[in-house]
Amino acid sequence: MNTAAMNGFPDTFVWGAATAAYQIEGATTEDGRGPSIWDTFARVPGAIVDGSNGDVADDHYHRYAADIALLAGLGFTAYRFSIAWSRVLPTGGDEVNQAGLDFYRRIAETCHAHGITPYATLYHWDLPQPLEDVGGWLVRETAERFRDYAVTTVDALADVIRHWTTLNEPWCSSLLGYGAGVHAPGKQLGTESLHAVHHLLLGHGLAVQAVRERHPELSLGITVNLYSVRPGSGSALDAEAVRRVDGLQNRLFLDPLLLATYPADVLTDTGTTDWFAERADDLATIATPLDFLGVNYYSRHTVAGPADGVFADPTQPSSTPGSERVQYVDTGAPKTDMGWEVHPDGLVDVIELVHERAPELPVLVTENGAAYVDVVEADGSVHDPDRRQYFEGHVEACREAIRRGLPLQGYFAWSLMDNYEWAFGYTKRFGIVHVDYETQIRTVKDSGRWFAELLG
Ligand code: FCB
Repeated sequence: MNTAAMNGFPDTFVWGAATAAYQIEGATTEDGRGPSIWDTFARVPGAIVDGSNGDVADDHYHRYAADIALLAGLGFTAYRFSIAWSRVLPTGGDEVNQAGLDFYRRIAETCHAHGITPYATLYHWDLPQPLEDVGGWLVRETAERFRDYAVTTVDALADVIRHWTTLNEPWCSSLLGYGAGVHAPGKQLGTESLHAVHHLLLGHGLAVQAVRERHPELSLGITVNLYSVRPGSGSALDAEAVRRVDGLQNRLFLDPLLLATYPADVLTDTGTTDWFAERADDLATIATPLDFLGVNYYSRHTVAGPADGVFADPTQPSSTPGSERVQYVDTGAPKTDMGWEVHPDGLVDVIELVHERAPELPVLVTENGAAYVDVVEADGSVHDPDRRQYFEGHVEACREAIRRGLPLQGYFAWSLMDNYEWAFGYTKRFGIVHVDYETQIRTVKDSGRWFAELLG
């Protein structure tokens, strides 16, 4: 450990890198894996910018041992990966595919052999297709199926994996998947996507309850993606824009999970008050106490209200139902290749959002990182100063959060290696390790070397 660089971080701080099953594994039809909604969505013409899919991806299914060795070589001591539901339960039902469980056991055992602590995510957006065919997250039964899948998987792997998150970014699964339709399953239902929010959160709560009862020794959490949200000006309209975006992006998830309540203003804006009132009894389950909260942080939104004060445009399928006409202001801050503004101090803002609701709850930054265009030099090096600077700034923000007394206990870089960036296919590179998709050759980027120096 580089002691000077580590000033301000406790010895127990968790340093990891993160990935997700569909983005890296490939082998989508091997060893009994069933189809997921991402296998289907990736084949919809026009859905993915480069027309690609995750059939091969990083071929991690076959190369996991070398990839985990690489992670260890960079000095990390934790690996966050996700488990593909349809490898474990190919139809989403009761039939268990032992080969799927064996794969994740091999991953966990390889981690342990390298002194790496595995952090498993049960759901990183890849619902088994047969469950989507009977309603997906729009129906309550899917929450129960998720609980059953969680129990089966954790029962099988609890001896090698101690840290579990239920869902990754339910905002994306619901509002992007069923609201805007830009993620699987590609439904453009606007407001109705809030039903998916509720069923995802219910599935999380049911899973935590059932798993905790059987395995009280495990550490259980959920990962949400939070945004720092600021007004474009001091006007009342811009304040309202902040209220709406913060509501849909942050409070719609943090309030039920941590305070056992839905934000009334968001339900009013979206016209869903009555629907949620009928399900108020579920809130106690959703708010089942957690051992940690995972936060994914990438950027800040600076927002403004429309000049005419009319926020809703029901004609647009959207991920901001009822608030489609909010304007996103360009502050002139540097942007990543995703067009996302770089604001490291926003990371402290979002940890505060958790802390003010649950002062004792440990927080892990389960994802943080940046896409930039990379070039492999003739000597095989990849110089990525922008990505390195992004990480430096955000690691500094973690130090600041700890200095302020916030219970931040770990940081995971997104991502260990370049991978399938959902609707952007292979066009966006987030890795600290470069992947040549033709040859599957991995090359550590300068940002990866920076971590190695920090942690070394
Ligand atoms: C997050 C996802 C992750 C990756 C990054 C860039 O929203 O959890 O899979 O795509 O964004």
